[in-house]
Amino acid sequence: MVDIREVPEADIDRALELAYLVFHDRPEKAARERHHALLLRCDRIGAYDGDVLVGFMAAHDLRLSVPGADLPCPGLTFVCVAPTHRRRGVLTGMMTRMMRRAGEAGRPIAALWASEAAIYGRFGYGGATTGATVEIDSTRPLALRIDPDRRPLRLVDPEDAVDVIGPFHEAARAGRPGRPGRSPERWRDEWLTEQDEEDEELSPPRIIVLGDPGEPIAGYVIYRTKPADDGGAARSPGLVRVDELEADTPAVAAALWECVAALDLTGKVSAWGRPADDPLLHFAADRDQVRVTAQFPALWLRLLDVRAALTARSWAAPVELVLEVHDARLPDNAGRFRLKAGPHGATYGHADGPADLALDVRELAACYLGGTRITELVAAGLVQEHTPGAAAALDDALRTPVLPHTGDEF
Ligand SMILES: CC(C)(COP(=O)(O)OP(=O)(O)OC[C@H]1O[C@@H](n2cnc3c(N)ncnc32)[C@H](O)[C@@H]1OP(=O)(O)O)[C@@H](O)C(=O)NCCC(=O)NCCS
Repeated sequence: MVDIREVPEADIDRALELAYLVFHDRPEKAARERHHALLLRCDRIGAYDGDVLVGFMAAHDLRLSVPGADLPCPGLTFVCVAPTHRRRGVLTGMMTRMMRRAGEAGRPIAALWASEAAIYGRFGYGGATTGATVEIDSTRPLALRIDPDRRPLRLVDPEDAVDVIGPFHEAARAGRPGRPGRSPERWRDEWLTEQDEEDEELSPPRIIVLGDPGEPIAGYVIYRTKPADDGGAARSPGLVRVDELEADTPAVAAALWECVAALDLTGKVSAWGRPADDPLLHFAADRDQVRVTAQFPALWLRLLDVRAALTARSWAAPVELVLEVHDARLPDNAGRFRLKAGPHGATYGHADGPADLALDVRELAACYLGGTRITELVAAGLVQEHTPGAAAALDDALRTPVLPHTGDEF
């Protein structure tokens, strides 16, 4: 009989050993210490078979930008079940406990990044943002259709980065839904570590900001580099891996992309997890030089309290309709509800009349940040439209000026 309960501090190292086992990982001492410190700051739930820890899950205490608001949002991480106990409902037990607890604590949404896309839909999570991998052939200067901002660029020491770029990142978050806030610890331990956890050949992080001296910065780029590999047939050019690039204006973004593409002794820029509507894809003059090489579901979102989530966000256009919501895990969300929303806010309460749209809570989660259209899900047979035009009306109301996006994998 497996017992689901909180994991005390004394068991954190056992939880880490379990995670390293299932993720086929053997991190260095410094990374283990970082993981330990991270788990100390997280909510922790474990599955115990007697005294043996056979399942584990942690949740960061995050805030997530949603249209017009910033909501408390547990960010699930380190989800793992021992190979001896898989497919017996251990994950289901931990997830149910985590979702109930977060809902009771007044957190309307939860989020995670999935190692496999097939796992979390059954728990009501929907893929809410898309990431794109963008590669630049930087063996020649980056060709641009706009003039880059010519204010000065300067390097920032990673030690000072949180103070210099932290406030800029926090302000930029409000401009795009789907972005988690970062504590100084998350900045330090997940973005600015000397050694990259996935590729030890990469340099430490380098940070370049743009702006006049004494003025607030207008943008920044965080990148790491790897020297060219000249050996044998598998020659590869020096690489610039862009971890994050934020800019106030397209001209600032152009200057920062131009700068990383011009780094000496490199011939390729690779930026993982860019937004699908990245302005770079429009202002690059040669789309053979700047290519999207992959697209993938990024942040998975769960509406734990649908009413609280829908009434907290802003709405782009007026809409009034009855939703029939299915939620197999959290019954308070299930039923027929009248949504009345518009630029001045929203109400959401039980309704008696027939439904205009019927959908599962995972579909609502996929559309909540504005990254998926209800009409697409109607076309896919996943949402039932009982009143013609209802899906398009809801799409108009959910729409956001830019696509939701985050490259902040936790
Ligand atoms: C993924 C993992 C946590 C699942 O744990 P588990 O205890 O075996 O899951 P459960 O028994 O509660 O499974 C619940 C359901 O999800 C399904 N499921 C579980 N893992 C799945 C996967 N990787 N792909 C597809 N379906 C999966 C199960 O078949 C089951 O389906 P059912 O309800 O129709 O019977 C576990 O296999 C694991 O630790 N994997 C390695 C680490 C990992 O990938 N973690 C996720 C990080 S985001």
